Amino acid sequence: MNENQSNRRNFLKAGLTLSAATLVAPGAAIANVTEREDAFKIAVGPYLQTNFNNSMTILWLTNKNAAGWVEFGEQADQLNQKAYGKAELGLMQANSKLNAVTLNHLKPGTKYYYKIVSKEIKDFQPYKLTYGETVSSNVESFLNANQAKEEVSFVMMNDIHDRPESIPHLLGLVPAAQQDFVFFNGDIFDYQTDEKQIIDHMLQPCVDNFAKNTPFIYVRGNHETRGKFAREFAQYYMHVGHTAFTLGPVRFVIIDTGEDKEDAHPVYAGIVNFDDYRIQQAEWLKTEINSKEFKKAPFRVVLMHIPPRYSGDAHGPKHCTELFEPLLNQGKVDLVLSGHTHKYMVHQPDKNLNHYPLIIGGGPQKGTRTITKIKADKNKLVASMIDDSGKEVGTYTALRK
Ligand SMILES: [Fe+2]
Repeated sequence: MNENQSNRRNFLKAGLTLSAATLVAPGAAIANVTEREDAFKIAVGPYLQTNFNNSMTILWLTNKNAAGWVEFGEQADQLNQKAYGKAELGLMQANSKLNAVTLNHLKPGTKYYYKIVSKEIKDFQPYKLTYGETVSSNVESFLNANQAKEEVSFVMMNDIHDRPESIPHLLGLVPAAQQDFVFFNGDIFDYQTDEKQIIDHMLQPCVDNFAKNTPFIYVRGNHETRGKFAREFAQYYMHVGHTAFTLGPVRFVIIDTGEDKEDAHPVYAGIVNFDDYRIQQAEWLKTEINSKEFKKAPFRVVLMHIPPRYSGDAHGPKHCTELFEPLLNQGKVDLVLSGHTHKYMVHQPDKNLNHYPLIIGGGPQKGTRTITKIKADKNKLVASMIDDSGKEVGTYTALRK
Protein backbone atom coordinates (compact mmCIF):
# COMPACT_ATOMS: atom_id res chain seq x y z
CA MET A 1 0.00 0.00 0.00
CA ASN A 2 1.48 3.35 -0.95
CA GLU A 3 1.27 6.63 0.90
CA ASN A 4 -1.70 7.85 -1.12
CA GLN A 5 -3.62 4.65 -0.47
CA SER A 6 -2.68 4.90 3.18
CA ASN A 7 -3.94 8.50 3.28
CA ARG A 8 -7.11 7.39 1.53
CA ARG A 9 -7.66 4.60 4.05
CA ASN A 10 -7.11 7.02 6.95
CA PHE A 11 -9.46 9.45 5.29
CA LEU A 12 -12.14 6.77 4.93
CA LYS A 13 -11.65 5.81 8.58
CA ALA A 14 -11.97 9.47 9.55
CA GLY A 15 -15.10 9.71 7.40
CA LEU A 16 -16.71 6.80 9.26
CA THR A 17 -16.00 8.40 12.62
CA LEU A 18 -17.21 11.75 11.42
CA SER A 19 -20.48 10.42 10.09
CA ALA A 20 -21.35 9.45 13.67
CA ALA A 21 -20.34 12.97 14.73
CA THR A 22 -22.58 14.39 11.98
CA LEU A 23 -25.62 13.38 14.05
CA VAL A 24 -24.43 15.74 16.77
CA ALA A 25 -22.79 18.60 14.86
CA PRO A 26 -23.31 18.38 11.11
CA GLY A 27 -21.59 21.67 10.21
CA ALA A 28 -18.38 20.82 12.07
CA ALA A 29 -18.23 17.33 10.59
CA ILE A 30 -18.50 18.61 7.00
CA ALA A 31 -15.74 21.13 7.63
CA ASN A 32 -13.45 18.37 8.91
CA VAL A 33 -14.13 16.13 5.92
CA THR A 34 -13.28 18.99 3.54
CA GLU A 35 -10.02 19.51 5.37
CA ARG A 36 -9.07 15.85 5.06
CA GLU A 37 -9.82 15.81 1.33
CA ASP A 38 -7.60 18.82 0.97
CA ALA A 39 -4.71 17.26 2.92
CA PHE A 40 -1.20 17.65 1.56
CA LYS A 41 -0.31 14.58 -0.52
CA ILE A 42 1.60 13.18 -3.48
CA ALA A 43 -0.72 13.84 -6.44
CA VAL A 44 1.06 11.40 -8.76
CA GLY A 45 4.33 9.51 -8.84
CA PRO A 46 7.04 8.65 -8.58
CA TYR A 47 7.71 8.05 -12.28
CA LEU A 48 11.10 7.36 -13.84
CA GLN A 49 12.76 8.71 -16.97
CA THR A 50 16.35 8.26 -18.13
CA ASN A 51 18.77 8.40 -21.04
CA PHE A 52 20.79 5.47 -19.63
CA ASN A 53 23.97 7.30 -18.73
CA ASN A 54 24.14 5.95 -15.17
CA SER A 55 21.62 8.51 -14.06
CA MET A 56 17.92 8.22 -13.31
CA THR A 57 15.42 11.06 -13.08
CA ILE A 58 12.61 10.61 -10.58
CA LEU A 59 9.58 12.84 -11.06
CA TRP A 60 6.43 13.43 -9.02
CA LEU A 61 3.75 15.98 -8.34
CA THR A 62 2.32 17.09 -5.05
CA ASN A 63 -1.13 18.67 -4.71
CA LYS A 64 0.31 21.83 -3.10
CA ASN A 65 3.57 23.74 -3.29
CA ALA A 66 6.38 22.01 -1.47
CA ALA A 67 10.09 21.29 -1.18
CA GLY A 68 11.11 17.73 -2.01
CA TRP A 69 13.97 15.27 -2.24
CA VAL A 70 14.78 11.61 -2.90
CA GLU A 71 16.31 9.24 -0.36
CA PHE A 72 18.05 6.27 -1.95
CA GLY A 73 20.54 3.47 -1.48
CA GLU A 74 21.48 -0.05 -2.55
CA GLN A 75 19.50 -1.71 0.25
CA ALA A 76 15.79 -1.28 0.89
CA ASP A 77 16.32 -0.65 4.60
CA GLN A 78 19.29 1.68 4.14
CA LEU A 79 18.39 4.74 2.08
CA ASN A 80 21.58 6.49 3.11
CA GLN A 81 21.89 8.97 0.23
CA LYS A 82 19.84 12.06 -0.50
CA ALA A 83 19.36 13.97 -3.77
CA TYR A 84 17.59 17.22 -4.60
CA GLY A 85 16.25 18.73 -7.80
CA LYS A 86 18.53 20.84 -9.93
CA ALA A 87 19.27 24.23 -8.38
CA GLU A 88 19.00 27.25 -10.66
CA LEU A 89 21.08 30.34 -9.90
CA GLY A 90 21.64 29.11 -6.36
CA LEU A 91 17.99 28.51 -5.64
CA MET A 92 17.02 24.91 -4.95
CA GLN A 93 13.90 23.52 -6.61
CA ALA A 94 11.05 24.40 -4.20
CA ASN A 95 7.71 26.15 -3.80
CA SER A 96 6.36 24.14 -6.70
CA LYS A 97 4.13 21.09 -7.17
CA LEU A 98 6.49 19.66 -9.76
CA ASN A 99 9.55 17.68 -8.71
CA ALA A 100 12.34 16.24 -10.85
CA VAL A 101 15.35 14.80 -9.06
CA THR A 102 18.19 13.21 -11.02
CA LEU A 103 20.36 10.58 -9.33
CA ASN A 104 23.81 10.72 -10.95
CA HIS A 105 26.90 8.50 -10.99
CA LEU A 106 24.91 5.32 -10.38
CA LYS A 107 26.71 1.98 -10.57
CA PRO A 108 26.07 0.02 -13.77
CA GLY A 109 23.83 -3.05 -13.45
CA THR A 110 22.94 -2.16 -9.84
CA LYS A 111 19.53 -2.23 -8.19
CA TYR A 112 18.64 0.93 -6.26
CA TYR A 113 15.92 1.49 -3.70
CA TYR A 114 14.37 4.92 -3.23
CA LYS A 115 11.53 6.94 -1.82
CA ILE A 116 10.33 10.44 -2.59
CA VAL A 117 9.75 12.93 0.21
CA SER A 118 7.88 16.25 0.07
CA LYS A 119 7.43 18.90 2.73
CA GLU A 120 4.53 21.28 2.22
CA ILE A 121 5.30 24.99 2.09
CA LYS A 122 2.30 26.43 3.93
CA ASP A 123 3.33 30.05 3.95
CA PHE A 124 6.16 31.77 2.09
CA GLN A 125 6.96 35.14 3.61
CA PRO A 126 10.12 36.97 2.50
CA TYR A 127 11.84 36.30 5.83
CA LYS A 128 9.81 33.46 7.28
CA LEU A 129 8.89 30.24 5.54
CA THR A 130 6.42 27.93 7.28
CA TYR A 131 6.51 24.24 6.50
CA GLY A 132 3.47 22.01 6.89
CA GLU A 133 3.26 18.24 6.78
CA THR A 134 5.88 15.90 5.29
CA VAL A 135 4.73 13.03 3.09
CA SER A 136 6.69 10.23 1.45
CA SER A 137 6.12 7.30 -0.89
CA ASN A 138 6.72 3.64 -0.25
CA VAL A 139 10.23 2.39 -0.92
CA GLU A 140 10.46 1.56 -4.63
CA SER A 141 13.28 0.14 -6.71
CA PHE A 142 14.81 0.25 -10.17
CA LEU A 143 17.71 -1.39 -11.92
CA ASN A 144 20.30 1.04 -13.24
CA ALA A 145 21.04 -0.57 -16.61
CA ASN A 146 24.59 -1.35 -17.56
CA GLN A 147 25.08 0.69 -20.74
CA ALA A 148 27.45 -1.99 -22.03
CA LYS A 149 24.85 -4.76 -21.59
CA GLU A 150 24.68 -7.42 -24.30
CA GLU A 151 20.96 -7.31 -24.96
CA VAL A 152 18.35 -4.56 -24.96
CA SER A 153 14.56 -4.84 -25.08
CA PHE A 154 11.82 -2.24 -25.05
CA VAL A 155 8.22 -1.71 -26.11
CA MET A 156 6.68 1.11 -28.10
CA MET A 157 3.16 2.46 -27.78
CA ASN A 158 1.82 5.33 -29.88
CA ASP A 159 -1.38 7.23 -30.68
CA ILE A 160 -3.22 6.48 -27.45
CA HIS A 161 -5.21 9.74 -27.93
CA ASP A 162 -6.61 10.31 -24.44
CA ARG A 163 -7.62 6.68 -23.90
CA PRO A 164 -5.71 5.91 -20.69
CA GLU A 165 -7.21 2.42 -20.44
CA SER A 166 -5.16 1.44 -23.52
CA ILE A 167 -1.91 1.72 -21.53
CA PRO A 168 -2.61 -1.16 -19.06
CA HIS A 169 -4.39 -3.12 -21.78
CA LEU A 170 -1.42 -3.09 -24.16
CA LEU A 171 1.13 -3.59 -21.37
CA GLY A 172 -0.91 -6.59 -20.25
CA LEU A 173 0.13 -8.22 -23.55
CA VAL A 174 3.85 -7.47 -23.15
CA PRO A 175 4.73 -6.81 -19.50
CA ALA A 176 6.95 -3.77 -18.92
CA ALA A 177 8.86 -5.47 -16.09
CA GLN A 178 10.82 -7.46 -18.68
CA GLN A 179 11.81 -4.31 -20.60
CA ASP A 180 14.64 -1.84 -20.27
CA PHE A 181 12.18 0.96 -21.00
CA VAL A 182 8.79 1.85 -22.38
CA PHE A 183 8.71 4.24 -25.32
CA PHE A 184 5.76 6.55 -26.08
CA ASN A 185 5.92 7.58 -29.71
CA GLY A 186 3.62 10.61 -29.62
CA ASP A 187 -0.08 11.48 -29.67
CA ILE A 188 -0.76 10.12 -26.23
CA PHE A 189 -3.22 13.04 -26.00
CA ASP A 190 -5.57 14.78 -28.47
CA TYR A 191 -4.40 18.20 -27.28
CA GLN A 192 -3.16 19.74 -24.04
CA THR A 193 -5.78 21.19 -21.72
CA ASP A 194 -4.43 21.16 -18.18
CA GLU A 195 -2.40 19.32 -15.56
CA LYS A 196 -5.28 17.03 -14.62
CA GLN A 197 -5.37 15.63 -18.15
CA ILE A 198 -1.62 14.90 -18.03
CA ILE A 199 -2.03 13.10 -14.71
CA ASP A 200 -5.23 11.19 -15.44
CA HIS A 201 -4.51 10.22 -19.04
CA MET A 202 -0.83 9.37 -18.85
CA LEU A 203 1.10 9.76 -15.62
CA GLN A 204 -1.30 7.87 -13.34
CA PRO A 205 -1.71 4.83 -15.63
CA CYS A 206 2.08 4.78 -16.09
CA VAL A 207 2.69 4.95 -12.32
CA ASP A 208 0.06 2.29 -11.65
CA ASN A 209 1.49 -0.08 -14.23
CA PHE A 210 5.26 0.29 -14.44
CA ALA A 211 6.81 3.76 -14.11
CA LYS A 212 7.86 3.52 -10.44
CA ASN A 213 10.27 0.74 -11.41
CA THR A 214 10.82 0.91 -15.19
CA PRO A 215 11.62 4.20 -16.95
CA PHE A 216 9.74 5.58 -19.92
CA ILE A 217 10.96 7.78 -22.74
CA TYR A 218 8.57 10.03 -24.61
CA VAL A 219 8.61 12.05 -27.80
CA ARG A 220 5.87 14.48 -28.77
CA GLY A 221 3.49 13.77 -31.58
CA ASN A 222 1.73 16.49 -33.54
CA HIS A 223 -1.23 16.42 -31.14
CA GLU A 224 0.88 17.21 -28.06
CA THR A 225 1.78 20.55 -29.67
CA ARG A 226 -1.89 21.64 -29.61
CA GLY A 227 -4.08 23.24 -26.98
CA LYS A 228 -3.71 25.95 -24.36
CA PHE A 229 -1.45 23.87 -22.09
CA ALA A 230 1.03 22.84 -24.84
CA ARG A 231 3.60 25.34 -23.57
CA GLU A 232 3.51 23.92 -20.02
CA PHE A 233 3.39 20.27 -21.12
CA ALA A 234 7.15 19.63 -21.39
CA GLN A 235 7.87 20.49 -17.75
CA TYR A 236 6.12 17.31 -16.59
CA TYR A 237 8.81 15.19 -18.26
CA MET A 238 12.58 14.86 -18.31
CA HIS A 239 12.39 15.50 -22.05
CA VAL A 240 9.88 15.16 -24.86
CA GLY A 241 11.97 16.45 -27.77
CA HIS A 242 14.87 15.11 -29.83
CA THR A 243 17.71 13.23 -28.15
CA ALA A 244 20.07 10.29 -28.65
CA PHE A 245 21.54 7.68 -26.33
CA THR A 246 23.18 4.28 -26.35
CA LEU A 247 21.96 1.19 -24.54
CA GLY A 248 23.65 -2.15 -25.14
CA PRO A 249 24.07 -2.84 -28.85
CA VAL A 250 21.71 -0.06 -29.97
CA ARG A 251 22.16 3.64 -30.65
CA PHE A 252 18.74 5.24 -30.22
CA VAL A 253 17.93 8.46 -32.05
CA ILE A 254 14.71 10.31 -31.27
CA ILE A 255 13.31 13.04 -33.52
CA ASP A 256 10.45 15.42 -32.68
CA THR A 257 8.58 15.73 -35.98
CA GLY A 258 6.36 18.65 -34.93
CA GLU A 259 3.03 19.48 -36.54
CA ASP A 260 1.52 17.93 -39.66
CA LYS A 261 0.07 21.08 -41.28
CA GLU A 262 2.04 24.08 -42.54
CA ASP A 263 2.98 26.64 -39.88
CA ALA A 264 0.81 29.29 -41.58
CA HIS A 265 -2.34 27.16 -41.29
CA PRO A 266 -5.13 29.19 -39.58
CA VAL A 267 -5.58 26.61 -36.76
CA TYR A 268 -2.11 27.48 -35.45
CA ALA A 269 -3.00 31.20 -35.36
CA GLY A 270 0.49 32.37 -36.22
CA ILE A 271 2.18 31.09 -33.03
CA VAL A 272 4.14 28.02 -34.21
CA ASN A 273 7.38 27.56 -36.12
CA PHE A 274 7.89 23.88 -36.77
CA ASP A 275 9.70 24.34 -40.08
CA ASP A 276 12.68 25.91 -38.32
CA TYR A 277 12.52 23.34 -35.54
CA ARG A 278 12.68 20.45 -38.05
CA ILE A 279 15.54 22.13 -39.94
CA GLN A 280 17.48 22.51 -36.67
CA GLN A 281 16.90 18.83 -35.92
CA ALA A 282 18.12 17.84 -39.39
CA GLU A 283 21.35 19.74 -38.63
CA TRP A 284 21.59 17.92 -35.31
CA LEU A 285 20.88 14.57 -37.02
CA LYS A 286 23.70 15.24 -39.50
CA THR A 287 26.10 15.57 -36.55
CA GLU A 288 24.59 12.54 -34.82
CA ILE A 289 25.03 10.17 -37.80
CA ASN A 290 28.69 11.19 -37.99
CA SER A 291 29.29 10.65 -34.28
CA LYS A 292 31.47 7.83 -32.97
CA GLU A 293 28.60 6.48 -30.83
CA PHE A 294 26.30 6.25 -33.83
CA LYS A 295 28.87 4.73 -36.17
CA LYS A 296 30.20 2.09 -33.81
CA ALA A 297 26.81 0.80 -32.57
CA PRO A 298 25.86 -2.64 -33.93
CA PHE A 299 22.30 -1.31 -34.52
CA ARG A 300 20.80 2.15 -35.05
CA VAL A 301 17.12 2.63 -34.25
CA VAL A 302 15.26 5.88 -34.97
CA LEU A 303 12.03 6.80 -33.19
CA MET A 304 9.84 9.57 -34.61
CA HIS A 305 6.08 10.14 -34.50
CA ILE A 306 5.44 11.22 -38.10
CA PRO A 307 7.06 8.57 -40.29
CA PRO A 308 9.74 9.73 -42.71
CA ARG A 309 7.53 8.40 -45.56
CA TYR A 310 4.13 6.80 -46.19
CA SER A 311 1.90 9.16 -44.22
CA GLY A 312 0.27 11.28 -46.90
CA ASP A 313 1.21 14.54 -48.54
CA ALA A 314 0.46 17.10 -45.86
CA HIS A 315 3.24 19.63 -45.30
CA GLY A 316 4.70 18.08 -42.10
CA PRO A 317 5.10 14.54 -43.48
CA LYS A 318 6.55 15.88 -46.77
CA HIS A 319 9.01 18.08 -44.87
CA CYS A 320 10.05 15.03 -42.79
CA THR A 321 10.73 13.03 -45.99
CA GLU A 322 12.70 15.86 -47.53
CA LEU A 323 14.82 16.61 -44.44
CA PHE A 324 15.23 13.31 -42.66
CA GLU A 325 15.05 10.49 -45.22
CA PRO A 326 18.35 11.30 -46.99
CA LEU A 327 20.12 11.44 -43.59
CA LEU A 328 18.53 8.19 -42.38
CA ASN A 329 19.66 6.50 -45.60
CA GLN A 330 23.13 8.01 -45.37
CA GLY A 331 23.40 6.91 -41.74
CA LYS A 332 22.38 3.36 -42.70
CA VAL A 333 19.81 3.13 -39.92
CA ASP A 334 18.55 -0.37 -39.18
CA LEU A 335 14.99 0.44 -38.17
CA VAL A 336 12.60 3.39 -37.91
CA LEU A 337 9.59 3.21 -35.56
CA SER A 338 6.71 5.63 -36.04
CA GLY A 339 2.99 6.22 -35.51
CA HIS A 340 0.68 8.98 -36.78
CA THR A 341 -1.23 7.16 -39.54
CA HIS A 342 -3.43 5.11 -37.15
CA LYS A 343 -2.93 2.15 -39.51
CA TYR A 344 -0.31 -0.33 -38.45
CA MET A 345 2.07 -1.38 -41.18
CA VAL A 346 5.54 -2.80 -41.79
CA HIS A 347 7.20 -1.12 -44.77
CA GLN A 348 10.10 -3.09 -46.18
CA PRO A 349 13.37 -1.37 -47.14
CA ASP A 350 13.40 -0.02 -50.69
CA LYS A 351 16.69 0.82 -52.34
CA ASN A 352 15.17 3.84 -54.11
CA LEU A 353 13.22 5.28 -51.17
CA ASN A 354 13.62 4.29 -47.54
CA HIS A 355 16.70 2.07 -47.32
CA TYR A 356 15.57 0.93 -43.86
CA PRO A 357 12.51 -0.96 -42.60
CA LEU A 358 9.80 1.30 -41.23
CA ILE A 359 7.33 0.01 -38.66
CA ILE A 360 4.25 2.18 -38.08
CA GLY A 361 2.14 1.36 -35.01
CA GLY A 362 -1.68 1.62 -35.10
CA GLY A 363 -4.35 3.08 -32.82
CA PRO A 364 -6.23 4.59 -31.16
CA GLN A 365 -9.50 2.70 -31.71
CA LYS A 366 -10.10 -0.73 -30.26
CA GLY A 367 -9.04 -3.34 -32.82
CA THR A 368 -6.41 -1.01 -34.32
CA ARG A 369 -4.18 -0.46 -31.26
CA THR A 370 -0.72 -2.00 -31.19
CA ILE A 371 2.26 -2.48 -28.93
CA THR A 372 5.58 -3.14 -30.65
CA LYS A 373 8.34 -5.01 -28.85
CA ILE A 374 11.96 -4.86 -29.92
CA LYS A 375 14.82 -7.00 -28.75
CA ALA A 376 18.40 -6.73 -29.94
CA ASP A 377 21.74 -8.32 -29.23
CA LYS A 378 24.94 -7.53 -31.09
CA ASN A 379 24.06 -9.80 -34.01
CA LYS A 380 20.32 -9.56 -34.44
CA LEU A 381 17.42 -7.15 -33.90
CA VAL A 382 13.89 -8.55 -33.83
CA ALA A 383 10.76 -6.36 -33.90
CA SER A 384 7.30 -7.76 -33.35
CA MET A 385 4.08 -5.73 -33.50
CA ILE A 386 1.17 -7.11 -31.47
CA ASP A 387 -2.43 -5.91 -31.85
CA ASP A 388 -4.74 -5.35 -28.88
CA SER A 389 -6.03 -8.93 -29.04
CA GLY A 390 -2.47 -10.20 -28.57
CA LYS A 391 -2.02 -11.31 -32.20
CA GLU A 392 1.26 -10.58 -33.95
CA VAL A 393 0.43 -8.34 -36.92
CA GLY A 394 3.90 -7.38 -38.12
CA THR A 395 7.46 -8.49 -37.69
CA TYR A 396 10.94 -7.61 -38.90
CA THR A 397 14.35 -9.12 -38.24
CA ALA A 398 17.50 -7.16 -38.98
CA LEU A 399 20.94 -8.79 -38.97
CA ARG A 400 24.09 -6.88 -38.23
CA LYS A 401 25.49 -5.41 -41.46
FE1 LIG B 1 -2.36 10.26 -33.84
